[in-house]
Amino acid sequence: MLNIRYELTRNKKTKPDYNSLGFGQYFTDHMFLMDYTEGKGWHDARIVPYGPLSLDPASAVFHYAQEMFEGLKAYKTADGSIQLFRPDKNIERMNRTNERMCIPKIDPADALEAIRAIVETDADWVPDEEGKSLYIRPFIIATDPKLGVHPSHTYLFAIILSPVGAYYASGINPVKIYIEREYVRAVRGGTGFAKVGGNYAASLKGQEKAESMGYAQVLWLDGVEHKYIDEVGAMNVFFVIDGEVITPALDEGSILPGVTRASAIELLRSWGVKVTERRLAVDEVLAAAESGRLNEAFGTGTAAVISPIGELNDEGVKHIINKGEIGPVAKRLYDTLTGIQWGSVRDDFGWTVKVK
Ligand code: COI
Repeated sequence: MLNIRYELTRNKKTKPDYNSLGFGQYFTDHMFLMDYTEGKGWHDARIVPYGPLSLDPASAVFHYAQEMFEGLKAYKTADGSIQLFRPDKNIERMNRTNERMCIPKIDPADALEAIRAIVETDADWVPDEEGKSLYIRPFIIATDPKLGVHPSHTYLFAIILSPVGAYYASGINPVKIYIEREYVRAVRGGTGFAKVGGNYAASLKGQEKAESMGYAQVLWLDGVEHKYIDEVGAMNVFFVIDGEVITPALDEGSILPGVTRASAIELLRSWGVKVTERRLAVDEVLAAAESGRLNEAFGTGTAAVISPIGELNDEGVKHIINKGEIGPVAKRLYDTLTGIQWGSVRDDFGWTVKVK
């Protein structure tokens, strides 16, 4: 039990127009905070008005990026209740990231209690239209005010909330992806499997290049041979070749083990669709596209949900997938997954957790 202290605001914000939310632009009235001190453990759980943090400029996070973050969502169902989607998976991954980053773990029951408490506090911010949700962003930063390169002895765990619409401006319409053959995002033995800001910082240069050419995201290749597909940064990727669904395997440790990725695989297998997790060379996908055997491509992610990919650009050569339209596999996954999340499809898997 966390024994959360509540300090609620008297100045509630005016809610934004829920028809033009975009992603991660607005934040709710409160935030959850908890401190860690070596020898004392995690302590002082509190829900306070949302606002700036005061940190020593020497805080380790600013210099050596010892930090982590997570992302999950709360959904409002037709009967007015609020539910989370597989929070246990995010919490498990949070502690795997913590392990890699020398950040102290958080008791999974405490992490879930914190998420539930902050969502319940700002429950009036959970959008009630299908397609919109409350994005939950837990994160931990190292706060020791010391410039030596060592794991910190003090940390801050925070959870902030943001009502969101679709991650991509195109919504459910297919996105265009640029294959990045120069820069890499992660290497074997590195932090690719962990949810840390540094992975995303490393992706910005390629992302900027792709965006300047009109592409939504970058397709990252492996950091050693620049040959095998890793992921898209904000999402994992799937390809349907001759009816078989193929996604890069996680065993190299350079790919984020997405909760939506795992859920998509479980759903597809429950429908009897063949799903293979393996090393997948980008040239194999492009050859399949050229010979008309690449039926579909799509990304999966908490923010991105299921995002069809309509075009892959390989150094100027454009490969159009499924005539630039959403395919049947991506559509069925999108409808089922979002149906479970918003409560309009029965949750046979026990994936949803009711908050209130
Ligand atoms: C998510 O899907 O939750 C992510 O963290 C991806 C991105 C917004 C960084």
